[in-house]
Amino acid sequence: MSPEIPAEALPWKPDSWRRWPALQQPNYPDPTALDRVLAELRVLPPLVTSWEIVQLRQQLAEAAAGTRFVLQAGDCAERFAACTPNRITNMLKVLLQMSLVLVVGAQKPVIRIGRFAGQYAKPRSANQETRDGVTLPSFRGDNINRPEFTAEARTPDPQLLLRGYERASLTLNFIRSLVKSGFADLHHPEYFDLDWVEHSPLADEYHHMVGTIGDALRFMENVLGVRAGETDRIDFFTTHEALHLGYESAQTRTVPRRPGYFNLTTHFPWVGLRTNDPGGAHVEYLRGIENPVAVKVGTDFTRERVARWLEALDPKRQPGRLTLIHRFGAGRIADALPCLIEAARAEGGRVLWVCDPMHGNTQMTAGGWKTRNFADIISEVQQAFDIHRAMGQTLGGVHIELTGENVTECIGGSRGPSETDLARAYESEVDPRLNYEQSLELAFLIARKMKSDGR
Ligand code: PEP
Ligand code: CO
Repeated sequence: MSPEIPAEALPWKPDSWRRWPALQQPNYPDPTALDRVLAELRVLPPLVTSWEIVQLRQQLAEAAAGTRFVLQAGDCAERFAACTPNRITNMLKVLLQMSLVLVVGAQKPVIRIGRFAGQYAKPRSANQETRDGVTLPSFRGDNINRPEFTAEARTPDPQLLLRGYERASLTLNFIRSLVKSGFADLHHPEYFDLDWVEHSPLADEYHHMVGTIGDALRFMENVLGVRAGETDRIDFFTTHEALHLGYESAQTRTVPRRPGYFNLTTHFPWVGLRTNDPGGAHVEYLRGIENPVAVKVGTDFTRERVARWLEALDPKRQPGRLTLIHRFGAGRIADALPCLIEAARAEGGRVLWVCDPMHGNTQMTAGGWKTRNFADIISEVQQAFDIHRAMGQTLGGVHIELTGENVTECIGGSRGPSETDLARAYESEVDPRLNYEQSLELAFLIARKMKSDGR
């Protein structure tokens, strides 16, 4: 094929990405074993339906228009061992509580999108890791290999894709059951009140807010668009990085009575910073699916790239189709974001804007811990609100790495860990997450910001 022909000029198929350079793909020792696994994946029932995907796409269009707000949040990397009732319940609780707080601040419905049920593969900056003179492949997430530093554990194993798909299905099944059986019923916010909210300096404000919500349930129901007695219809959508293209395309198919191809492993796939090249396989893959899609954007973007993302991913400029998730860092957003907004406008883009205040604010402590500072995180979000507003548009949502557990991975917050506390409960194999209390505090601060900005 001639390299001068732009990807978007060639016909798209679920596996047309194979014609383009695919970064971050594992090196399987036995490619035929991978093919067998992908053939198995292709015939399994899907995790989500095209109905849900279309519904999310419509809701994201409303977020782009400023009438909804997106909370896209969850683990950096889900772990197979964390597929337990407690962990899943705690994740759901923190997302629900945050969304409740955000609804009150934003005075508009919140779209809850969990980084769960498939966030098992991770991009890595280095393909290999060396310890004491021994070099092995990097850990790329539970869908790919295992973190122990042995040759056996680090060798990519295609069977793990099936184990990941099964866990994604178990996770989603439990979430759907919890939501359906009233776990998320706003008439009973006490169901999802975690014990130690009691000990938080935010407890009074939180309980006051919950009380207000009880009183104003009618209003809430209007805002949420569900009638009394139908609160089990509160939606959770799923999102993950579309990284392992074999896995993603195995469940990419047509459905009866709807045109086009859908990725049925998740509602909302995104491409990460390391794979967002418009001339690469990941953008080619996203180009042809009907799901809403997102691109992570860092400070290295160019106007030409923005134009090519829009051309490939949203040629018809349809609100809800394309989300740009900017992740610049608290110290760089003021310079970078206005240029990005201008570049998208110059192309007539009508994208949804989401701020990821995590990935541009990662730092190493002197003690060798990968961490993020709560102050940087809230600063980046606040600046994002201000910059979008100053440029006459709205920030449509936030993208957060968090957990419902009491981990010590990020520094700060009103009661959060300091640098010397990090070792106490540091679990993440990849990026540091906000713990439960830090997450709730962040939601409060965002809600306050939205309230004071009058939106
Ligand atoms: C992530 O979201 O976990 C991630 C790796 O982000 P980014 O691609 O923005 O670095
Ligand atoms: Co991450």
